[in-house]
Amino acid sequence: MTLGQDDVAEAFGVAPELLPHLPELLADIWILGSWPDRIVDLLRPLELEPETTRVLEVGCGKGAVCVPIAQRLDLSVHGIDLFAPFIEEAKAKAREAGVAERCRFEVADMRAFIGEGADYDLAILAATGAVMGSYKDTIGWLRKAVRPGGYMIIDDGYVLETCPADRPPGYEYCQDRAETIRELTLHGDAIEREIIVPTGELHAYNSANTECIRRRAEGLARRFPVLREQLTAYVRSEEEECRFMEEHTVAAIWLLRRGA
Ligand SMILES: C[S@@+](CC[C@H](N)C(=O)[O-])C[C@H]1O[C@@H](n2cnc3c(N)ncnc32)[C@H](O)[C@@H]1O
Repeated sequence: MTLGQDDVAEAFGVAPELLPHLPELLADIWILGSWPDRIVDLLRPLELEPETTRVLEVGCGKGAVCVPIAQRLDLSVHGIDLFAPFIEEAKAKAREAGVAERCRFEVADMRAFIGEGADYDLAILAATGAVMGSYKDTIGWLRKAVRPGGYMIIDDGYVLETCPADRPPGYEYCQDRAETIRELTLHGDAIEREIIVPTGELHAYNSANTECIRRRAEGLARRFPVLREQLTAYVRSEEEECRFMEEHTVAAIWLLRRGA
């Protein structure tokens, strides 16, 4: 499956005309929705062997999860993302952090990338949502990249019972906690740990990021008045998504161990 520019724009929830400006809109934000410190904290007790452990992150964005894993846990990581400008930023971040030799970043469509070769020790899906439509199908797909006994990190969340049926685009798959856990473990994998992120932290993180995007959107709208309407709509949709997340969802990170 090869993704076109319209598919990429859709994956980001932006109008196709805004796609060339996305790197600038998100220029002040390295971590694109995940909790890298918590992921490192989940992984540290596993004492994964630096010489032999193979780590994959699909949808790695600008490397905000891969680079700390390489830096703090000495592991070799392979990050893939479909957006080439993010992969360039990820490479630059790895160089800055002095871990370029432990980080391999490449442009690829994650859905086509994972086949039957289960040779990673750890696969990470962070802030991408259930990319195969449901967690049942997403885990069924992701686990194909991981050897039996290996690990998966899912950094996402679940919805509260108060969640309305009418949701922002991209949240259709979200289930309550019980159903999410059921889907995550349906293929025989075990949840080894769960971390819940306090709502206050989510709010602080969202507010800071939205403010960065708003400032960048204002700068772009001054230089490209023809895009003002789309930029305003993008900022509004970000605000609405943040409000929805804070009112109706719980951010969670799960460490799973692959069964047979
Ligand atoms: C919200 S960002 C999260 C990035 C990173 N995991 C982080 O937390 O900073 C989601 C990423 O998934 C990537 N993505 C979406 N669909 C993809 C696909 N089919 N193949 C590869 N990457 C994809 C996007 O380009 C984007 O960089």
